[in-house]
Amino acid sequence: MAKIEVAPENWVGRLWTDNPDDWLERVYAIAASWRIPWDDGQAHPMLLDWLKRNPLDTSRKVLDAGCGLGYNAEAFAAHGFKVTAFDVSSSAVETCRFYSAGHSAVGAARRKSVSYQQADLLAPPVRWRRRFDVVFEAALLQVLADPKETMQRALHNLCGFVKPGGTLMTICRLRTRTTPQNRRPPWHFELAELRRITADEGFVLQEHVTRKTAGVTRALLSFSRSSS
Ligand SMILES: C[S@@+](CC[C@H](N)C(=O)[O-])C[C@H]1O[C@@H](n2cnc3c(N)ncnc32)[C@H](O)[C@@H]1O
Repeated sequence: MAKIEVAPENWVGRLWTDNPDDWLERVYAIAASWRIPWDDGQAHPMLLDWLKRNPLDTSRKVLDAGCGLGYNAEAFAAHGFKVTAFDVSSSAVETCRFYSAGHSAVGAARRKSVSYQQADLLAPPVRWRRRFDVVFEAALLQVLADPKETMQRALHNLCGFVKPGGTLMTICRLRTRTTPQNRRPPWHFELAELRRITADEGFVLQEHVTRKTAGVTRALLSFSRSSS
């Protein structure tokens, strides 16, 4: 069969429609032919801005949930953080380890080491509970099975990884109360909903930066947990 050179419109969404159960594994497998839509070849610009605004701190531990191809994790590491990064996709984790070990042009540019692990945010290792100064996710919540129960469970687990006095950070798509939710991923979230769920876990909104591109509002939100 000839290799298809051009990916059909919204092929990731179509895979989800066909079978939401294992669509992420199929995304990574198929991307051997087509480009992964979130492979920007660099860390998220909103994270890079956040790193510029925040001082280098080599003692702080970061957990990057749903690390994808690892660019955000590597940016944290380059900034001096000790980084653990995980993804539910073993193919993604293998790719990160491969790049990190310097087996490609991307890897050669990666100087800092990150501990990459395969794990499911919905059934995370108990050892990560309250272990991290900064817990970060970018675009993981938006690809979960549903934007309500599963998202709440995922957010609850993310909160659980944060040490007292630590920070939970998300880069996600926002919608207003009157904008309807998508019928399939990427999900968009209401700020009020994210504030309510995290407040129930003892967090307060610390920082709220938004950026609108191509009609989509993305936000970097950081929530802090009280130190007690
Ligand atoms: C849209 S990608 C974003 C990747 C990366 N954070 C970035 O910004 O480039 C979402 C990632 O979340 C991962 N993911 C989805 N559900 C997950 C889960 N339950 N536990 C861990 N990772 C998950 C996917 O495999 C995918 O790599």
